[in-house]
Amino acid sequence: MNSITKARNLSGKVVLVRVDFNVPIKKKKVLDDFRLVASLPTIQYLIEKGAKVVLMTHIGRPEGKTVASLKVDPVVERLSELLKKKVKKLETGNWKLSDAKKVALLKEISKLRPGQVAMMENMRFSKEEAKDTGMLSQELAALGDVFVLDGFAVAHRASASVSGIPKYIKGYAGKLLTTEIVGLTKVLHNPNTPFVAVLGGAKMETKIPVMRNLVERADAVLIGGGIVNTYLLAKGYIVGDSLVDKEFQVDAIQYCKRKNVIKPLDVIVGTKDGKKVRVVKIKKNPHEICKKGEAIFDIGPETLRLFATYIKEAKTLVWNGAMGYFEKKPYDVATLTVARLVASRSKGSAFGVIGGGETLQAMDMVGMTDDIDLVSTGGGAMLEFLAGKTLPGIYALQW
Ligand code: 3PG
Repeated sequence: MNSITKARNLSGKVVLVRVDFNVPIKKKKVLDDFRLVASLPTIQYLIEKGAKVVLMTHIGRPEGKTVASLKVDPVVERLSELLKKKVKKLETGNWKLSDAKKVALLKEISKLRPGQVAMMENMRFSKEEAKDTGMLSQELAALGDVFVLDGFAVAHRASASVSGIPKYIKGYAGKLLTTEIVGLTKVLHNPNTPFVAVLGGAKMETKIPVMRNLVERADAVLIGGGIVNTYLLAKGYIVGDSLVDKEFQVDAIQYCKRKNVIKPLDVIVGTKDGKKVRVVKIKKNPHEICKKGEAIFDIGPETLRLFATYIKEAKTLVWNGAMGYFEKKPYDVATLTVARLVASRSKGSAFGVIGGGETLQAMDMVGMTDDIDLVSTGGGAMLEFLAGKTLPGIYALQW
C-alpha cells in the first residue's frame, strides 16, 4: 500500500478521495462529526499540496434510491465549518447522468481551483455503487487523476467508489486509513504482551470470526454481551429472554472452551425496565439463570473484578462491544467500568484500541475517548480486519 504522502506533484491534480462520512444526521444537522474530524488530516494535506479535492461518501443504506434525508448537504455544511472554507457540492444525484451532464461535471471538476474541496452526492443513491465491477467505477475514475481511500470504516465493502476506482487509476492510502492499518496490524502481528482483548456486543456473525482469530493471538479474551448468553445457552443453562444467537451455539462452545477465553463468573439478571435486578452466580453444572420475562443484561461484579485484573496487566488492549444493555441503568455498570479501565491503561502502560459504535458511545459517556491510543472509525471494518480477513478497499490499493 502506498501512502498519499509518497505521491509527487499533486498540485493542480484532481484527487478523488473516498471518505466514510456515514454519520448520524437529524433535522439536516450532523449529530456526530467524529468521522469528519478523523479525515481532516488527509483533506488538509491535499489542500496544502494544491490538489483539487473531490470527496465521495455514502450515508446510510439507500440501496440505489434517492432519499432526501440521506443527502450529503449537512455533511458538506459541517465540513465547510471544520475546514473553515466552503466545500462545493457537486450535484451528481443517482449517477444516471446523460452524456452532456457527464461532460458538464467533468468541466465543473476541472474548473476547481488548486486547494479547493468539492463533494459528490451520496454514492449509494446509485445502484451501481454496490459492486466494484460495473461502469460506475470507470466513470468515477475518469473524473480524476489520483484516487485516495481514507474511509477505513468502508474498506470492507467491495464498492465502486471504494475498490472499483483504483482498478483504473493509481490508488493511495489516506492518512486516516494508514493510521488505522498500522495500529491494527501492530495489534495482530506484533503486540506487546500480555495482549488482552475484550469482546462484547450482540452481532454474533461478526464477533465469532474475530474470536476465531484472536484466541490464537491474544493472551486473554474477556467476553461479555451476546457471546456469553449464547455460550451459556449452548451449555444447557436456562437463560430466559436473554439475547442469544442460536445459529452460533456450536461456534460459541468451540471458542469459549479455550483456556485463554475468560468467561463471566456471575451475571446481572433482571427485567428490561431495570426495576427487578439480581446477581446470579454461574455454577459449573448448567442451571436456571433466569426465567421467561427476565434476561441476562450485564456481567456481574465478581466478573468485573476478574476482568480488571487482566486489563490492569495488559500491554496491548483491544475492546469492541458492550458488556450488557448499557443504554439502561443499572445495566451500564460493567460497560462503563470496562471503558474506564481500558482508557486508564491506554496511552502509556498499554497500546489501547477501541472500535464499534456502542463501544465509542460508552467511551464518550465516561469522557475518556482522548485517553485511547487508536479510536477506530470502523465498526464492521475493524472487526473484519481483526478477524484476519482481506478488506477489498485495502487490497485494491496495492500496485
Ligand atoms: C459503517 O458505519 O460501519 C460504515 O459506514 C459502513 O456502512 P455499511 O455497513 O452500511 O456498509
